[in-house]
Amino acid sequence: MKNFLPSEYKKNEKLRINHSYLVEQFSDYTKVFKEIEKVVKKGDYTLGKEVDLCEKNFAKRTGAKFAISVGNGTDALLLSLKALGVGQGDEVITVPYTFVATVGSIVTAGAKPVFVDVKDDYNIDENQIVSAITKKTKAIMPVHWAGRPCEMDKILSIAKKYNLKVVQDSAHIIGAKYKNNYLVNYGDVCTYSMHPLKNLNVWGDGGFIVTNKKELAKKLYLIRNHGLKDRNNVEIFGYNSRLDTIQAAVANYKMKFKLDNITKKRIENSKLLDKLLAKNENVILVKREKYLKEVFHLYHINVNKRDSLQKFLIKNDIDAKVHYPIPIHLQKAAKFLKYKKGDFPVSEKLAKTSLSLPVHEFINKKHVAHVVNTINKFYKL
Ligand SMILES: Cc1ncc(COP(=O)(O)O)c(C=O)c1O
Repeated sequence: MKNFLPSEYKKNEKLRINHSYLVEQFSDYTKVFKEIEKVVKKGDYTLGKEVDLCEKNFAKRTGAKFAISVGNGTDALLLSLKALGVGQGDEVITVPYTFVATVGSIVTAGAKPVFVDVKDDYNIDENQIVSAITKKTKAIMPVHWAGRPCEMDKILSIAKKYNLKVVQDSAHIIGAKYKNNYLVNYGDVCTYSMHPLKNLNVWGDGGFIVTNKKELAKKLYLIRNHGLKDRNNVEIFGYNSRLDTIQAAVANYKMKFKLDNITKKRIENSKLLDKLLAKNENVILVKREKYLKEVFHLYHINVNKRDSLQKFLIKNDIDAKVHYPIPIHLQKAAKFLKYKKGDFPVSEKLAKTSLSLPVHEFINKKHVAHVVNTINKFYKL
């Protein structure tokens, strides 16, 4: 099957400052093999001790009472909607500036996505939510884009007033905090992805749902495993979306030995980029807020002549990326929703001006300086 490796990689496989760093990030695989060997020797392939431990570790990391591991971040969203009773005839408010999985999960659940524009910080404009609420609205699905928390106080107060569920798409945000609080404290669930490109990554697909609500957690544990209460008793009809035990072993290793450093390095690199790029008037940075702990799954700048700058950076061995050039309301798949160009001006603007720079844990201060110098060179500074 085809993967989506961009063409730049094929032409120039050895970009000096890469955005993806799969070889380096999994270079200690022999240590992980030892953990996997234990699983194989026990024949413990589905759920079991390693998954239990992973759920405990993840709950601790996210400050949650319950962590339910699932097959991937998209299932985490879909199963959350199902467990919350969101489906046919319901509307879910979310943003068009996101990865397709956010919106796809709503459609797959049978509900209708209703979009609200984002702000210049790429997160949902909390002040536009109320005007999108109808009698059919069942939930709000804010996306903590790039690892920056949305304005959860406001979103939660709207949800309470209008009796709406809150499903936080937290795919980018492991380790972040809002006003010094864990995000699980705002709303019903937070859903995470452990895709290889995420900050906490496994050797394939993996996902998590966290919640503080006991009854909801019970339902989610059932739904992700066919609704089975035990081997012979089916409580509700569900799915098969279990986190592979082998991936749980990888995630446990990563949480124990890697994640803190990954988060720390991403924050350090992003802060340095913020500082150095502030001197370049051609570059618009996201305004930082002291009360948000961001974890920089992505680091965005906004520039005119974005495509030319991207080409220039790639030519100079710096793998700048665009996440993403087409907002979801303008995708072919979204035609039935009847949105049109101009409906979400900030999303459409960001799709034209946004560029992501590498900030992962293998980027050092010298790399950052080189990226900044190359951007300055492009603008002839
Ligand atoms: C914002 C967002 N939500 C959901 C997902 C889905 O996660 P997964 O790829 O694990 O299904 C992603 C993955 O890239 C994402 O970026």
